[in-house]
Amino acid sequence: MKAFIVKSYGKKEKLHLEDWAVPTVNENDVLVQVHSAGVNLLDSLIRNGEFKLFLPYKPPFINGHDVAGIVTKIGSKVSKFKVGDEVYARPSDHRVGTFAEYISIDEKDVALKPKNLSMEEAGSIPLVGLTSWQALVEIANVKKGQKVFIQAGSGGVGTFAIQLAKYLGAFVATTTSAKNIELVKNIGADLVIDYKTQDFSKILKDYDVVLHSNREKIVLEQSLGILKKGGQLISLVGPPTPEFAQEIGLPWHLKFVTKLLSASAKKKAEKLGVKFHFLFMRAEGKQLNEITKLIEAGIIKPIIDKVFSFEQTNEALTYVETGRSRGKVVVKVR
Ligand SMILES: NC(=O)c1ccc[n+]([C@@H]2O[C@H](COP(=O)([O-])OP(=O)(O)OC[C@H]3O[C@@H](n4cnc5c(N)ncnc54)[C@H](OP(=O)(O)O)[C@@H]3O)[C@@H](O)[C@H]2O)c1
Repeated sequence: MKAFIVKSYGKKEKLHLEDWAVPTVNENDVLVQVHSAGVNLLDSLIRNGEFKLFLPYKPPFINGHDVAGIVTKIGSKVSKFKVGDEVYARPSDHRVGTFAEYISIDEKDVALKPKNLSMEEAGSIPLVGLTSWQALVEIANVKKGQKVFIQAGSGGVGTFAIQLAKYLGAFVATTTSAKNIELVKNIGADLVIDYKTQDFSKILKDYDVVLHSNREKIVLEQSLGILKKGGQLISLVGPPTPEFAQEIGLPWHLKFVTKLLSASAKKKAEKLGVKFHFLFMRAEGKQLNEITKLIEAGIIKPIIDKVFSFEQTNEALTYVETGRSRGKVVVKVR
């Protein structure tokens, strides 16, 4: 099969289109013929080598974290899927590689694709959908009437998270620039702040939840400051915490590193009487099933910026790296 490979780590490295063996199918796996693959900044960060410490992939390996496609083979113990099923998934870490014609995925990571979505639309959902679900449902347990601040509402995560937070009954504030205000209003944002001309930290106060995705240190501090007592900030961009290190089974010395890295954010949060969480989303077919229901009910709609051809996978990554995409970027593999 054809696949896009990370041959060596580096910011200037491109993925290489090569012939690669079709992956083996273990007893709990389904082999998925890839029709589309969503593109995430994570793909670029992994290629750059920025995640080497936490996710030590050894080049050469196939990149790509989101998939929609058709099951073509099943392992002997697979019980939920059959050949021909249309599915989507964010495969588990260490088993990624969706920029390819086939991928073998543990059935626990997979869900049936929403019937009302095209393959391109479905491939855009898993990683950002699960991130939003794990932040707003699993960690924050957002309740009706709560105030939620979702940064970068026009991005891949933001466009999903706004719709989910609205479904959960929250009042949603978000940031974006002028050209995207209409977009975030259309998907339900109640209060839109143009981050280029307005300062969110002077406008928002007494929030219950912040979904934090901005890498500037000052923005993290300001975001903690808009929470009410008992409020929660869920950071998607670090600093990683010892709880995260524990969850993914990092050795003691890396746990210690995360303790040092997160000390200041945790201390600030404690002083303000709020909670700081770091989330690194994980694969989870059961949660994806819940997301399928919301999409089929018309409650959440995919927002797609651009679809690139398989051959243009590197261009798709470069586009995502600009940080200007409106919703999701997808590679059409078939
Ligand atoms: N930890 C995890 O599990 C996890 C999961 C998913 C994503 N992430 C991280 O979360 C971040 C967001 O991911 P994403 O996929 O949503 O990114 P994205 O789709 O690339 O976000 C692009 C959007 O961000 C907006 N934006 C850029 N700078 C902004 C600013 N200063 N304030 C407000 N909006 C701004 C842009 O709007 P304008 O063009 O109007 O500026 C654009 O629409 C990334 O750093 C990603 O790596 C982490």
